[in-house]
Amino acid sequence: MKTFRVSADAFFARTGELGARTFPPSDEEWRERCRRPMNQLIEHFGLANKNVVSLGAATAHEEYWFHKAGCRLTLVDLGENVVPYLESLPKCEGDTALEYVIADAGEFARVEPKQYDCCYISSLTPDELRRRGIVRRQRRIPGMGMLNQIGHRLTGRHWLPIWPREVDPFDAAVETAATRLLAPGGLFIMQSYASGVDVTESSDWSRLVQRQLRRAGVELVAIYYYSELPAVSLTVGFKGDRQAAARFATEIVGRPDIDDFHGRSTLPRSTARLPIAAEEAGVRNGPG
Ligand SMILES: C[S@@+](CC[C@H](N)C(=O)[O-])C[C@H]1O[C@@H](n2cnc3c(N)ncnc32)[C@H](O)[C@@H]1O
Repeated sequence: MKTFRVSADAFFARTGELGARTFPPSDEEWRERCRRPMNQLIEHFGLANKNVVSLGAATAHEEYWFHKAGCRLTLVDLGENVVPYLESLPKCEGDTALEYVIADAGEFARVEPKQYDCCYISSLTPDELRRRGIVRRQRRIPGMGMLNQIGHRLTGRHWLPIWPREVDPFDAAVETAATRLLAPGGLFIMQSYASGVDVTESSDWSRLVQRQLRRAGVELVAIYYYSELPAVSLTVGFKGDRQAAARFATEIVGRPDIDDFHGRSTLPRSTARLPIAAEEAGVRNGPG
């Protein structure tokens, strides 16, 4: 585990170079696509000027908008390819610093002593791969492929495999992060765009998320998804008990809700919100 503290402005001034090498077309373009959804997220959930940790952050084109909103950032990624770039930047301490930790997300979550106002995760590879593996195994159930095809022909929509109800949605590293990295009142935000879990067809999905997050002391607040592809989802949880989460949900209910997320997707899309059993969650459901 290696930690770099560098000037946040300097980091974001040149990530374009880094992104263009590793992730074309360019970091600036990815950033621009994320502008509106990230700003909506920040505004709706009141994330300006907070301490944010992001796991699997890569070149941080989404987290750039946290930076613009005055947040202090700790970015965590395994990617050693960022090291020469970080070494080239001016070192910095205090409020204008950005911390970049080269580490395994699970290991970081186990040992990090600090607690944050927000733990942001956008497609953390091991977590996504685990879920994808689990839904693929489901697909091997005899007849499942055929049923999917017939279902698609009849209804025009994809019938993605159902998540097994005995299995936790998130891997252990994510649960450890939710348990250890959040200060009371902090937000757990988890975007998933590569796992293949249909959050609407897996009827128990929100209850399973609720169950796992509660073990981490986090109350589920919302699950957003793409209506046209409900495998792309955004989960938000609140660190605290049901009453505190309900108070938070009531506080934010008058703010404009988010109508897009994962702005880089080129899919035609509209964003919906999965109903969460109110008596279970203790929070208000949004529309849709
Ligand atoms: C699909 S990319 C997502 C990057 C960025 N968050 C985004 O949404 O564009 C997944 C990132 O997870 C990182 N990663 C993979 N395994 C990891 C681990 N065990 N701990 C921390 N980061 C990891 C990869 O290096 C990669 O940057």
